[in-house]
Amino acid sequence: MSEGPRLLLLLLLPCIIILSIVRKANAGVTSSYIRHEWPSVDIPFDSPIFAAPRGYNAPQQVHITQGDYDGKAVIISWITPDEPGSNTVKYGLSQKKYEFSAQGDTVQKYKFYNYTSGYIHRCLLDGLQYNSKYYYLLGDGNSSRTFSFRTPPEINPDASYKFGIIGDLGQTFNSLETLNHYKESGAETVLFVGDLSYADQYDDGLDIAVRWDSWGRLAEQSAAYQPWIWTAGNHEIEYFPNLKEVVTFKNFAYRYPTPHLASESSSPLWYAVRRGPAHIIVLSSYSPFVRYTPQWIWLMEEFKKVDRKKTPWLIVLMHAPLYSSNEAHYMEAEGMRIVFESWFVENKVDVVFAGHVHAYERSHRVSGLMNSFEPAPNKSAPIYITVGDGGNQEGLAAKYREPQPDYSAFREASYGHSTLEIKNRTHAIYHWYRNDDGKRVPADSFVFHNQYWAIEKGTVSNMQSS
Ligand SMILES: [Fe+2]
Repeated sequence: MSEGPRLLLLLLLPCIIILSIVRKANAGVTSSYIRHEWPSVDIPFDSPIFAAPRGYNAPQQVHITQGDYDGKAVIISWITPDEPGSNTVKYGLSQKKYEFSAQGDTVQKYKFYNYTSGYIHRCLLDGLQYNSKYYYLLGDGNSSRTFSFRTPPEINPDASYKFGIIGDLGQTFNSLETLNHYKESGAETVLFVGDLSYADQYDDGLDIAVRWDSWGRLAEQSAAYQPWIWTAGNHEIEYFPNLKEVVTFKNFAYRYPTPHLASESSSPLWYAVRRGPAHIIVLSSYSPFVRYTPQWIWLMEEFKKVDRKKTPWLIVLMHAPLYSSNEAHYMEAEGMRIVFESWFVENKVDVVFAGHVHAYERSHRVSGLMNSFEPAPNKSAPIYITVGDGGNQEGLAAKYREPQPDYSAFREASYGHSTLEIKNRTHAIYHWYRNDDGKRVPADSFVFHNQYWAIEKGTVSNMQSS
């Protein structure tokens, strides 16, 4: 090598070393864990896992969701297969003593291609006491069934409460494992980030509808006992011109009501609830959201209602992630990011949970507001977490973009679920649990510092990450 290039190399070498150290210090983690995987196929329809409850016309597919804005009501939904039967919910504060009763809305039945649904019941229980365990009974005589749920603490900035986050669940053995692991978590409400049954993967109209039934029977083991806060995903759209089924979200809307009117929303697909210390905003990735659409106007007004002195934790749910470095669905939600991201930053949203990408990823606090392609660190921005790893029949999205972008803190293509345990107005503990060969293993954990009450203390501190 002649003297000129040698000198240049000597001058540049320290810079290269320093740059590589800086890059390593900022780099996120791409987990190298290789997981055991059940086949990505649905559990056979005739499996005992999907068995209908015993007894003539026994209520099935029982699930509950929050029924009002502040957590003093639940909506209970169920289906009776043979005839309408009882449309009454008997309930009370002690087992086998049902001192109250509520009458359901008009029983509904619908057709989907060559399928006719069972009798769909929905019943609002309101005026409930906070922080109480309620028992409830559905159905008639020997076919009646009993369940229970706990109401949340009252709206209080220092209430503690544990949420679970599940997305893209489907109905495979991986889905069942996720559900079983979630039930061990001790969380009290599921924030479900869309794509429930994956029934739309079937070709025949009858198969599609009955897979909504089987999913309802699968989810009941959790959803009958605690509220699932529903977000709609692309697999809920179900636009099938070939089957002459063109009313979108039909199966989902009949079966999974939401309390949208309590937050003045014009659609069950976007709404908000307050629960204990949290204000939860649910958005629809697959409904119009640009300027002047109902969802845009609604969200602008809903942000005005957020009072961090009462509900310090501001959580947004949507299906398609705004930040994901997975090859699957890369940048699909750019439209929504452009429209809503500045509001998330202005309002200091704590976290945005999404699904859609069948893998796990957590971002640093970043925003793309600087008009550059690479988003910039921003202490006022939310953390974006993708939990589309419930375990549906489409399998894992295993291919990430390389190199890992700076905004990506941790990513791993495994099935699992998350929990967000709010401790008080300043701190929450977050875990992502992978389904690890039959066990639930925390693979990404950290302390959340609240964006309103603790922002001056920094953004996020890692407790552990692997
Ligand atoms: Fe999806």
